Amino acid sequence: MYRTVTCGELRLADAGKSVTLAGWVQRIRKMGGMTFIDLRDRYGITQLSFNQETDAALCDAANKLGREFVLQVKGVVVERYSKNAALPTGEIEIEVKELNVLNPAVTPPFTIEDETDGGDDLRMKYRYLDLRRTCVRKNLELRHKMAFEVRRYLDEQGFLEVETPVLVNSTPEGARDFVVPSRMNPGQFYALPQSPQILKQLLMVSGFDRYFQIVKCFRDEDLRADRQPEFTQIDCEMSFVEQEDILNMFEGMSRHLFKVIKGIDLPKLPRMTWADAMKYYGSDKPDTRFDMRFVELMDIFHAAPGFTVFDSANYIGGICAKGCATYTRKQLDALTEFVKKPQIGAKGMVYARVEADGSVKSSVDKFYSQEVLQQLKAAMNAEAGDLILILSGEDIMKTRKQLCELRLEMGRQLGLRDPQKYSCLWVIDFPMYEWSDEEQRLMAMHHPFTSPKPEDIPLLDTDPASVRANAYDMVINGVEVGGGSIRIHDAKLQEKVFEILGFTPEQAQTKFGFLMNAFKYGAPPHGGLAYGLDRFVSLFAGLDSIRDCIAFPKNNQGRDVMLGAPGLLDPVQLDELQLKVDLKG
Ligand code: AMO
Repeated sequence: MYRTVTCGELRLADAGKSVTLAGWVQRIRKMGGMTFIDLRDRYGITQLSFNQETDAALCDAANKLGREFVLQVKGVVVERYSKNAALPTGEIEIEVKELNVLNPAVTPPFTIEDETDGGDDLRMKYRYLDLRRTCVRKNLELRHKMAFEVRRYLDEQGFLEVETPVLVNSTPEGARDFVVPSRMNPGQFYALPQSPQILKQLLMVSGFDRYFQIVKCFRDEDLRADRQPEFTQIDCEMSFVEQEDILNMFEGMSRHLFKVIKGIDLPKLPRMTWADAMKYYGSDKPDTRFDMRFVELMDIFHAAPGFTVFDSANYIGGICAKGCATYTRKQLDALTEFVKKPQIGAKGMVYARVEADGSVKSSVDKFYSQEVLQQLKAAMNAEAGDLILILSGEDIMKTRKQLCELRLEMGRQLGLRDPQKYSCLWVIDFPMYEWSDEEQRLMAMHHPFTSPKPEDIPLLDTDPASVRANAYDMVINGVEVGGGSIRIHDAKLQEKVFEILGFTPEQAQTKFGFLMNAFKYGAPPHGGLAYGLDRFVSLFAGLDSIRDCIAFPKNNQGRDVMLGAPGLLDPVQLDELQLKVDLKG
């Protein structure tokens, strides 16, 4: 009697059992009169053995197989002569008695191994083969487990998962929409949701006081390692809450995930204001796995003018790289080139080394006395052997961002950005608005439904740019994994916020009338947040790109090279939609 087993489960204790296994041929080796096949399924690899002496016909059949053939075999579990400690099943093999080829396979275009010979494009084109690789499959298993644990946690907290539509309408103020033509309403278009933001707020008005949804969102943005045009949010909203309640609830969810998935006890998350994050790290998503905070040096250098670059700068900031005074001229030149790259945009970099005797030697020695350089050393808290790196510029925010890139690069060079180490925090008190040079107006920093801090409401009339919002982001290792806000639930305040964003009352009514009307029927105070599931999974998996935890991702041009999407529409379909394609330019 043969028992059906998987390729990952047999151990030495199973020796003597008769089993049936099915899977794919990973590898075939011929040694003397023996043939060995590694058979692979989702659960692992088991070695099959065929012996020319005991069953020549079966062994001949095995010799005709190729990589990725699909087999079913029956056989007996025996102890292996030469063990393979790298495999959990490495102490046994199957002496095959019956071989059934379920399907032959052509040779795959790349090796189905963790260390494959297939390049990115090729693997994406044959993603169904790429997904057979253990390292890719493991990411999807992790994703499943995380989504499952999210549901378990939120269910226990009384959240209801409610689905919201995918064919919605276009709303201004976000990224670009993906649009879908409507056959039944010729010339009209749906938009795919960038997030279910307004719908979840309406669910609060309907009385679903704890909502969540693991949901696809669509944004037509330029792509980066942590951005896909369609991605998945863990979208949540709660009624009758204040910011503190939301932070506690979702800190709890993150703690649950860290505990059950990674076995890590997450400490209480520190909170940093947006203003401090920008001041000390030059980023609203600081990587706090390492310190290397910015120190502002305007006072010191402006008190001793002489170096025109610093004299005319509105911002001068430094970081202290511990123990890096040994950096060679070549390494320092490479760092200067790094900050001068067009994507970073600094004009140059100043450095200062603290020598063993405590004196400071810098690239701007000729402009500053040792006394000024000693003040620099004290401000930077630098000691003998340390290296101080300084950037300056006219635009405070831009220069901080450049210094942020330099800090991250130093962190990388010094091995301080260990993917196995986690540093999580809340960034809070974001500004309500940010100025857009492109649009020449204030834009919502989070989204237009975010409520101002009550104490800042009077500033909406006098100085809207300085109004802070009840908005927060959860940041892990320099990645924004989630963000949200307490919402406006008062129709009048919402109108005012739209007005500051430049909407006339008529435009606001056309675009958001349904929301403002809903608020007139008794809207509870509410707030929420959304996590990026793809980002959360890739952090837990230690991946460089979220693509690797998505079964069928898009490439940097937003294409699915396997499906050939996007593609042209059949003329018949265009006719049905009453559309004519007439590309500009
Ligand atoms: P936000 O726009 O900050 O907020 O998005 C929430 C989270 O979604 C993830 N994310 C992305 N992940 C992959 N690819 C993308 N293109 C992408 N864009 C965003 C990030 C981010 O933190 N409705 C609000 C949430 C709320 O206020 O409740 C929203 O969508 O991890």
